[in-house]
Amino acid sequence: MFKIAILVSGTGSNMLNIIESFQGKSAEILTVFADRPCKALEKAQDIYNIPTKLLNKKDLSNLEIANKVHEECVKLKVDLIVLAGFLSIIGGKILEDFENKIINIHPSLLPKYGGPGMYGMNVHNQVIKNQENTSGCTVHFVTKDVDQGKIILQKQVKVEKNDTGETLQKRILIQEHIAIIEAINILIKQHEDERV
Ligand code: GAR
Repeated sequence: MFKIAILVSGTGSNMLNIIESFQGKSAEILTVFADRPCKALEKAQDIYNIPTKLLNKKDLSNLEIANKVHEECVKLKVDLIVLAGFLSIIGGKILEDFENKIINIHPSLLPKYGGPGMYGMNVHNQVIKNQENTSGCTVHFVTKDVDQGKIILQKQVKVEKNDTGETLQKRILIQEHIAIIEAINILIKQHEDERV
């Protein structure tokens, strides 16, 4: 079975969607890591009984967090690490050992509105401020350059005249839930094809 680890920082709607779509079907969600106490971690544990680990950014540097995730994912022989609303920056050896095996969901049409500091509502507020006609979301591979790894797929969302950051965020989140499942399915298929 295809083995997935998920990294979270917030509400966890993308994480829940991944668990509900794949767990016990075409993949196994082995573990969930969070870089802060958050709803997502509680839900993974309480609703789904998935082993979780808090790697608190109050006590650990970004590199220490990444190294601990690395160690655990090697041990568990994880096939894919999914950043589902994970807000710390991943660096170090994990990027080499898990090349093309770490993906991120980002709430804009990258390369627009990406990079350090561009996350969550910051992205949507900036899109509204700049009066963009279109926004959306991107699933991409994670590399040392924040939000610049190869794009797997994108979904576009029209920005309406009366949109606020919040209304736009809601519509984009719906597309994120679709995009992340499609992207993981692509990678599961690739993984199966490579094994034949
Ligand atoms: C999502 O909109 C995701 O794209 C964003 O955080 C939100 C998490 O929501 N991620 C980033 O901005 C990463 N740069 P969720 O916890 O409900 O899945």
